[in-house]
Amino acid sequence: MDKLLINGGIRLDGEIRIAGAKNSALPILAATLLTQETVEVCNLPHLYDITTMLELLGCMGVQPIIDEKLNVEVNSSTIKHFNAPYELVKTMRASILVLGPLLARYGEAEVALPGGCAIGSRPVNLHINALEAMGAQIAVEDGYIKARTDGRLKGAHIFMDLVTVTGTENVMMAATLADGITTIENAAREPEVVDLANCLIKMGAKIKGHGTDTIVIEGVKDLHGCSYSVMPDRIETGTYLIAAAATRGYIKVKDTRPDILESVLSKLEQVGADIKVGDNWIELDMHNQRPKSVSLRTAPYPAFPTDMQAQFTALNTIARGTGSITETVFENRFMHVHEMNRMGASIQVEGNTVIVEGVDHLKGAPVMATDLRASASLIIAGLVSDSETSVDRIYHIDRGYECIEEKLQLLGAKIRRVPS
Ligand code: EPU
Repeated sequence: MDKLLINGGIRLDGEIRIAGAKNSALPILAATLLTQETVEVCNLPHLYDITTMLELLGCMGVQPIIDEKLNVEVNSSTIKHFNAPYELVKTMRASILVLGPLLARYGEAEVALPGGCAIGSRPVNLHINALEAMGAQIAVEDGYIKARTDGRLKGAHIFMDLVTVTGTENVMMAATLADGITTIENAAREPEVVDLANCLIKMGAKIKGHGTDTIVIEGVKDLHGCSYSVMPDRIETGTYLIAAAATRGYIKVKDTRPDILESVLSKLEQVGADIKVGDNWIELDMHNQRPKSVSLRTAPYPAFPTDMQAQFTALNTIARGTGSITETVFENRFMHVHEMNRMGASIQVEGNTVIVEGVDHLKGAPVMATDLRASASLIIAGLVSDSETSVDRIYHIDRGYECIEEKLQLLGAKIRRVPS
């Protein structure tokens, strides 16, 4: 197992390119199961979670072909099994995304029930309830969701009790091949849901309202192949912008989308960053000034994303003033706080809020990553600390950030990967 060693205290300065979005790429790869024809997926990020999804397709008998640019061609006509085993689901909860496509296309699916994880209990009851409303017979037995349907799924009117991203995606994929019209109310509006919908439309699906809280899908008999390029990763983008702001630095991020980062960019302006945007780039300059604390509250898109909360907590630790950060999406997403306090931060947890009192300096320390975004926040804390920080258990970071140490090195950071 590797760890990252960071010698902090350096202003980041430079340009980087943003990879394709992990949370779009995963459902899009699952969507390739909806057709017998070949789907080419481009701009896939080079990440451990993507490898896991390709492995999952492989263990069902589908052999994705990967070219040197990491474009992947998937032809699911060779599928032999319709199950997602626990060994893969336990390493990546997003495996649940094959449930809707398998059920819609093949009439059966067995997917291991994902357990809780480091950020919360994360049940999948809403996925199951919606698919049942579409006529699936579903039993949860022996740790598996066992689902089947006689004939096609039926279009249904579905109200999601909570806004769920992968729940909306699973139902939307299933509905593309259902008999009749499916309406999803209180649907997730995340850009990744929109990206998936655009890919499905390119495959021949009839979808309207994606990007709003009511998505209407008219089922069709078959979908066909296509070539689709995954949108840029807004969370990777935001993470590098925050790292530059926390270190009082400058950054230009290229191949990204400012239009889907409004809530994050507005917080960065409150921090004191000078921000300029173009069609596919964002430039941030702190002019060597110490950031100001910000307060924020996470909620589904277009509000402030839970996946950026830990990184802003890291920025607040060394900012001027006191900021409060409230997490409303997951119940246990503050594991990074205790590690930051070990580095000299002054953070108090009060229910689902953390109060961060900015200190002048953090001190380097050995810290442990607990989940993907917590790892990113600990790296940011390491970048602003006075001395050496080692971040252990970085397999979490490799799940969601492509070549993070190379990209940070390009910005001038002193960071390297070593065996632990
Ligand atoms: N929920 C339920 N029942 C359900 C589904 C969700 O109670 O059936 C609850 C969850 O427990 C949570 C809330 O609803 O409290 C929202 O969860 P959601 O279903 O939206 O999360 P998800 O689809 O499992 C995706 C991303 C996460 C991101 C969340 C929120 C993917 C593959 N994952 O998860 O990304 O945090 O939406 O935006 O798209 C990450 O990339 O680090 C990550 C965790």
